[in-house]
Amino acid sequence: MSPRSQAEQLSFFEEADQAAKPLLTDTSSTFQDNLALPIHRWFRYSAGFSAAWVRQVIEQEKVRGCKQVLDPFAGSGTVPLEAELAAVRGLGVEAHPFVARIARAKLEWRSPVSDFKEFALRVLEHASVHRVEEGKYPKLMEQCFPRGTLLRLYSLRTALSELADSSPAAELSWLMLVSILRQCSPVGTAQWQYVLPSKKKVKVVDPFRAFEEKMLQMAQDMTVRQSLPGGPKAKIFHEDARKCSSVPFGWAQLVITSPPYANNFDYADATRLEMTFIGEINSWGDLQNSVRKYLVRSCSQHVAPISGQTKEIIEDPVLLPIRSELADVCARLEEEREHHGGKKTYHTMVAAYFSDMARVWTALRRVTAGGGRVCFVVGDSAPYGIYVPVDRWFGDLALAAGFRTYRFEKTRDRNVKWKNRKHRVPLHEGRLWVEG
Ligand SMILES: C[S@@+](CC[C@H](N)C(=O)[O-])C[C@H]1O[C@@H](n2cnc3c(N)ncnc32)[C@H](O)[C@@H]1O
Repeated sequence: MSPRSQAEQLSFFEEADQAAKPLLTDTSSTFQDNLALPIHRWFRYSAGFSAAWVRQVIEQEKVRGCKQVLDPFAGSGTVPLEAELAAVRGLGVEAHPFVARIARAKLEWRSPVSDFKEFALRVLEHASVHRVEEGKYPKLMEQCFPRGTLLRLYSLRTALSELADSSPAAELSWLMLVSILRQCSPVGTAQWQYVLPSKKKVKVVDPFRAFEEKMLQMAQDMTVRQSLPGGPKAKIFHEDARKCSSVPFGWAQLVITSPPYANNFDYADATRLEMTFIGEINSWGDLQNSVRKYLVRSCSQHVAPISGQTKEIIEDPVLLPIRSELADVCARLEEEREHHGGKKTYHTMVAAYFSDMARVWTALRRVTAGGGRVCFVVGDSAPYGIYVPVDRWFGDLALAAGFRTYRFEKTRDRNVKWKNRKHRVPLHEGRLWVEG
């Protein structure tokens, strides 16, 4: 985060007029800065946001007496980890089973470093002695790894499953194993576009070496973190933000979150490589039942089977505050798709997305204390070049759910750089502050 954006953030509540200034280089909504931070860096979750910025917001709210912080879309656990560091109580809700497990594993940083190292070294030794034989592996794994690498990865997986107990050390070792996959693959495996067999990486690491290096990194981070004040242990609930069922009524004095954007990013697909490796899915087709069906409907794959029900979704009573504008946008999207080869069901995606997010606002009203603050990091979107005013509609849904006020603080412009962008509609990203 740049010094200017820090200053802007700190003074936001006193100087609301600053909020209108665009910060073209602001990185607080990206995971980039976390790659240098202990524990946050254990798993690269591209959907994550900046821990340093989260910490600032929590510290700012602590001055007002805030002691309890919630993230209903906790992802890899940035907010709960920062809540611990700031010595306030933290809760996270995450519906993606694999991602929730990552976040929970990170919260095990308190366990004895020596137990963790001892367990991880046993896994490594077992894997080097008991190598798995040739076998048939899922196609995706075969596409991403040469045979020798694949056999070493599966030797580690087998060793871990044979030695695993329910100890924190075993869970940390599981996290280690899933976090090294992409650095061991010689092909393009970036999360946003994650398998590009024709793209070659310059640096590829051997799985045994990557496992050992990761262990040393994690042990070092645990030692550093354990030397600082612990703070109350945060919790991750593997459940749905549309309900927040395990979060007590009025619990959250501060909510900080970055929800899925209505931008067709498929969170289920983002972890397909890791889930395939650990045997939770066999193919792309399994993602719908194993992951997607639990998530907010923010990608067209998710809603393709219900595209005929768009009108009924728009009639959902929770959408009343934005219904006429939403109906208009969806009608334009439905018409526009006829001019595009892919015929994407963006009209259904947008309707279903706001119907889901309206429920999130209702759930948040229940679990947020009176006078509490909610900060959503949000971006607007324009599928097929048709503008969707996400922050304003969220604000209207929040008021309808019972919050008192909202305002939007823009932090950066989007869709202004790339020559080959799909449309020219200027987009932005920022923070929606809701109070009530
Ligand atoms: C933008 S990411 C949040 C990342 C997080 N801020 C971090 O730093 O790692 C949005 C998250 O919402 C999760 N999600 C989607 N639908 C959900 C739902 N219905 N309930 C809870 N979590 C959900 C996704 O799996 C994803 O991890």
